[in-house]
Amino acid sequence: MPDQSNVPPADGGSGDACCSPGGCGCGNGAGAPADADTVTPFSVSRRSFIRTMGVSAAVGSLAAAAQASAALGAKKGQDASGTPILGPDAVSITLTINGKAMPVKVEPATTLLEALRINLGLTGAKEVCDRGACGACSVIVDGKLVNSCMTFAIDCVGSQITTVEGIGTPDAMDPLQAAFVKHDAMQCGFCTPGFVVACRAFLDKNPKPTLEQIKHGLGGNICRCGTYTNIFNAVLEASGQSPVMEQKVS
Ligand code: FES
Ligand code: FES
Repeated sequence: MPDQSNVPPADGGSGDACCSPGGCGCGNGAGAPADADTVTPFSVSRRSFIRTMGVSAAVGSLAAAAQASAALGAKKGQDASGTPILGPDAVSITLTINGKAMPVKVEPATTLLEALRINLGLTGAKEVCDRGACGACSVIVDGKLVNSCMTFAIDCVGSQITTVEGIGTPDAMDPLQAAFVKHDAMQCGFCTPGFVVACRAFLDKNPKPTLEQIKHGLGGNICRCGTYTNIFNAVLEASGQSPVMEQKVS
């Protein structure tokens, strides 16, 4: 019989018992994995190697960033210009929404849409694409139409934010909202709050728009139900003009 005492066992382990009954990846015993992540007799798997390298790189980057900040004269909790660095934990801020100061505690990565809907219960702005492609989350910030899903709440401190709730209520509708009702400018209605906000922002800047200007001005909002003609009619009506159906085609 040949001497087998120095030959590694077929399962790739050392021959010792595994430290865990179900196998822990130590390379010993029947529970050791048999795929590309199998632990070799040297006890370094591809996964653990990559994980270790990743952590080392991250630690190196943080150390380099800290050194760079220190070199620029930044103090702890501030950047080099002395501006306070907020986070990573939640911080207390106050947003001015529809003319009211609203305190809210948010993490720096919280979007304005999340702050409105989740933290403040203002659910008029809708989350549809969550990537700035549909306009369902439209709000007005300092007179400018923005996608709230692409805006950090913390960046809106000190700004005037208008949501669809601030444009009108069922009992006191904005003329634009009344025109939406009159022209049945919705089907499922999910895009409608974003359209109302976008139309309001557009009309505030273009009180008497042409149909072409309306189409161009609302280009950032999508209605999957395809109620565009009725929405255009509502905007024309709200601006004191004839709806599309009553206009002569030249
Ligand atoms: S949900 Fe913000 S643009 Fe679509
Ligand atoms: S009414 Fe349904 S998406 Fe516009």
